Amino acid sequence: MKKTARAHTNIALIKYWGKKDPKLRLPLMSSLSMTLDKFYTDTSIEAAEENSFYLNNEKQTSNASKRVFSYLEMLKKKYDITDNFTVSSINHVPTAAGLASSSSAFAALASAFCAYYNINVDKKELSRLARMGSGSASRSIYGGFAIWQKGDDNSSFAYSLDEKPKMDLHLLAIELNKNQKSISSTKGMELAQTSSFFETWIQKNDSELNEMIQAIKDEDFTKLGSLAELNASEMHAVNLSAQPPFTYFEPDTIKAIKLVENMRTQGIECYYTIDAGPNVKVLCQLRNVKDIKQRFESSFNNVTIIDASFGPGVSYLD
Ligand code: DP6
Repeated sequence: MKKTARAHTNIALIKYWGKKDPKLRLPLMSSLSMTLDKFYTDTSIEAAEENSFYLNNEKQTSNASKRVFSYLEMLKKKYDITDNFTVSSINHVPTAAGLASSSSAFAALASAFCAYYNINVDKKELSRLARMGSGSASRSIYGGFAIWQKGDDNSSFAYSLDEKPKMDLHLLAIELNKNQKSISSTKGMELAQTSSFFETWIQKNDSELNEMIQAIKDEDFTKLGSLAELNASEMHAVNLSAQPPFTYFEPDTIKAIKLVENMRTQGIECYYTIDAGPNVKVLCQLRNVKDIKQRFESSFNNVTIIDASFGPGVSYLD
């Protein structure tokens, strides 16, 4: 009988961008995220004659399937399992458009696998296992705010900072561009590490993380938003100064950044954060959601905006 797990995607306010060990997915920095209610992945797993992976009900033959099964090979070895599987994922996330769908995907897969074999792991161990599929997945085990601590293979997992925050915090996912990202996060991080600013990026991690934790404890939206914006800008500056340089920004990304800055000067408090893709996410408070949406809709054609807030940790559907 199959097992299905649901994991929500998360947005990093302090980003993971650089690996100490790519094979184990050990980060060079700690990161902090907000789990989102509106975006999630449901993944079911069942032993089968042969391996097959369905994404949104379509059989995959590509890299997506390779990544899933090489991850499952690792888990099988660890737990002495020899089965093949049918894995089926329904992604309620705009795939590869800059909202890390791999975070919900691998958190759901690790959870479904452990549930299927009744493997008794606590949340930290589950987070550690999810990390090996995709770094950001370590944080999607939890709801609310989560911190993924750097560390070594055994100690690099995420833990909860606050599962059910009371803070007034919204994230507007502005989908400007529906194209798949051209440089995967895995590749982007590899390139970023060639930047001469990379060392500075790593050095700032401790103090930015601590400041962010304090902002969350104080429910200080201004501090949280401005720090998230700064941290994202630093990440993208490292990409621009890599060898060879690259960027995820498209012309509309810059236009959206300017719009956020403009709104701020007009007293509509909001901040942007951007991941490994051209789309912009806007952090704001409830009272400004409507206004900000309207400004984006009148500045861009065909823009899709999703208003998200805090989502829960992993759950099981059967
Ligand atoms: C920019 O977790 O997708 O979203 O570990 O190589 O799978 P891999 O990377 P991934 O990277 C996410 C990068 C980011 C920042 C973040 O989520 O912290």
